[in-house]
Order: sequence, then C-alpha cells, then structure tokens
Amino acid sequence: MDTYKIPVIAIDGPSASGKGTIAQLVAKKLGFHYLDSGALYRLVALKTMQSHTDIHNTDQLAEIARNLNVVFKNEDIYLDGTIVTDAIRAEQCGLLASQIAAHPQVREALTDRQRAFCQPPGLVTDGRDMGSVIFPDAILKIFLTASAEVRAQRRYKQLKEKGINANISDLLQDIKKRDERDSNRSIAPLQQGADAQLLDTTSLTISQAQDAVLSWYNVISAKNPRLDK
Ligand code: CDP
Repeated sequence: MDTYKIPVIAIDGPSASGKGTIAQLVAKKLGFHYLDSGALYRLVALKTMQSHTDIHNTDQLAEIARNLNVVFKNEDIYLDGTIVTDAIRAEQCGLLASQIAAHPQVREALTDRQRAFCQPPGLVTDGRDMGSVIFPDAILKIFLTASAEVRAQRRYKQLKEKGINANISDLLQDIKKRDERDSNRSIAPLQQGADAQLLDTTSLTISQAQDAVLSWYNVISAKNPRLDK
C-alpha cells in the first residue's frame, strides 16, 4: 500500500504578519499549491456588502459562504466573474471578514472548499486555523508573527504600493482590534498550537523568514523520504 501523504505546510498568524508573502514564496520554491484562506473570508465579506446582507443573519452568511462563485486564476481572484483581487484587500473588508469569521456556520461552510486545495505534490496555506482545524495532519505547522507596530508599517507599505491611502495609527488600531477578536473568539481562535514552530519576523527580512520555513521543511522531508515523491 502506497503511504504517500500529501505534504501540507500550515502557516498561521495574526493580521499583516507577512504570512501570505512567505507562504506564496515557499509554495513557489517547492512547486506546491497555495491557499490564502483569509481571501475566502474576505470574499464572503465582500459578497455580504454587495448583497446588503445583515451581518447578524448567520444562516444567510453561511449560505453566501457555501455558494461563493470564486475562481483563483494565476495571481487573480474572480468573484462572480469579476476580478476582486484588490477590492478584497481594503481594510473595511478585512474588518468585516474578521466579524463574519467568528460565526461557526460560516467556518463550517468553508471547510471542504479549503481542504480541496490539498493536491499533489503539496500545499502551502496561511490563515488562523490551518494547523489547528483545517489541516491538523500538516507535516509542518508554523506560527508566524511580528510586533503590532512592525505589522502596521508593513500593511501601510503594502496599501501604499497598491495606491490605497492609509494612516499608520489607524492601521495599528485596526490590527490590534482584529488581533483581539481573532484571538478571543470561541471557535478556531488564533493561537500558537503546541505542535507549531514559532517564527517571529519582527527583525527578519522576507528572505530570512522564507529560508527559516524552507530549512524546517527540508529537515522534515529528509526524515520522510516518501514526501519527496
Ligand atoms: O491579511 P490579514 O492577515 O490581515 O487577513 P486575512 O488573512 O486576509 O484574513 C482576514 C480575516 O479573516 C482575519 O482577520 C480572520 O478573522 C479571518 N480568517 C479566519 O478567521 N480564519 C482563517 N483561516 C483566515 C482568516
């Protein structure tokens, strides 16, 4: 019996910690698939705004999550056939996503969709509960973080580059608010699991953070030759 197991690298962490950037680079380097799970919550938030759905109507929110008509193609994300790659990055969308993500029915409705990304030769994914809930068997789990101040600066730079106006102190407040909500919710809270490696990137460059993840993965795959198939 072939015991080949699709390797999953799960990178969880708080808002603007850089987990998406690192996860994408690592996926590219290893030739693995990539799942940005936060994008799914942002898409539900965008659709909720577009359809003027009451954010307390959990049945309807779950319905939106279940029926999301989304296509990830190259670097772009399509919702109902329209490119929303930049639209979902707005802070307003992130804040609403974090409110919506606290509803168990919404999380449940997105579970299978996330697991479907686990395809050979492997998957790198980032979010809040990738290692704890969606891919508990991931062979490498990382809790990637940085100080709130550094995260606010990174988010500021990212928004500026997209031509979106932003204010550092507002961003810092938003980040703290989101940390608080994501860490204290009763379902799938953001926290470092006992089986996750801590990667604090406060004073690391992107390439140093990427190398840290790759070297952990190399150690694991050297011990598990079946992963390298
Ligand atoms: O990029 P950033 O870290 O700011 O946010 P994101 O990863 O795009 O996620 C947006 C929001 O979705 C987060 O604040 C979380 O509340 C929620 N989320 C979640 O609950 N579980 C995930 N696996 C990913 C995101």
